[in-house]
Amino acid sequence: MAQLLSKRKRPPREEKALKAENKLEDGVFDRNTLLALNKLMQAGHFSTLDFPIAKGKEANIYCATTEEGNNVAVKIYRIDTSNFIRMHEYLHGDPRFLHVKKNRFDVVLAWTKKEFSNLKEFYWNGVAVPQPIAFNRNIVVMEFLGKGGLPFPTLEQVGTARPQDDFNFLLDEIKKIYQLGFVHSDISQYNIVVTDGGLKILDCAQAVMLAHPRSEEFLNRDVSNLVKFFQKYKVKCDLDESLAYIKDGKPVKKGLEALV
Ligand SMILES: Nc1ncnc2c1ncn2[C@@H]1O[C@H](COP(=O)(O)OP(=O)(O)OP(=O)(O)O)[C@@H](O)[C@H]1O
Ligand SMILES: [Mg+2]
Repeated sequence: MAQLLSKRKRPPREEKALKAENKLEDGVFDRNTLLALNKLMQAGHFSTLDFPIAKGKEANIYCATTEEGNNVAVKIYRIDTSNFIRMHEYLHGDPRFLHVKKNRFDVVLAWTKKEFSNLKEFYWNGVAVPQPIAFNRNIVVMEFLGKGGLPFPTLEQVGTARPQDDFNFLLDEIKKIYQLGFVHSDISQYNIVVTDGGLKILDCAQAVMLAHPRSEEFLNRDVSNLVKFFQKYKVKCDLDESLAYIKDGKPVKKGLEALV
């Protein structure tokens, strides 16, 4: 019986061939991701995928070019090496993702959809995030924050020349997000880009709705990251005061409209 089971478990020859065909290039380009890229290209969102810009914890980011010669950013989530258990924790209490099964594939796909959906909600309500363009499977296409193919630097890389203004601006952006019914949950100098049109906030996949059981804790963490960073520049900022400022005023929405 044991032998029979082990024999049955062995993948048939054609499946082995399929596995080889699915071999990952750069940790992201399995066959289905290539098909999804192709669909996005067929839909006209870009015509060439040019070069990698960055490799984050969960995704690889590429610069791509449209037929008109404009750059867009293509963020491809890695299915095989993403920390889907951690990701799943940020889906709690989110009416958009109530029935996501706790397996690697479903969680990464929900995460991709969540980043796109959050970007849409934030961007179209005037928050300083890259403009979302499209998504498919584990890929998000968005506005490229850079010039001549070079991405703009992060706040961590170049620091700030106008600390008080930048702090006030970012607090206002966090407040806008909060009043839309969300907490970004990954605010730090590493996820803020210094563009020639001002600061922009990246990495919106982790943003949770206020209904998330830990949304208050995430808000505290976001604001204290900001306060710690700007205190190095001698900005007068206080965690409690900043939190009170963010929460002051009527919420614009409850965040439930943010459906893809
Ligand atoms: N729209 C964009 N335009 C230009 N560069 C971008 C864009 N999005 C991301 N990047 C670049 O890729 C880097 C990583 O992006 P992002 O933070 O969204 O991915 P991540 O996988 O969550 O990374 P990490 O785990 O490091 O936070 C950024 O620091 C930035 O340099
Ligand atoms: Mg990041």
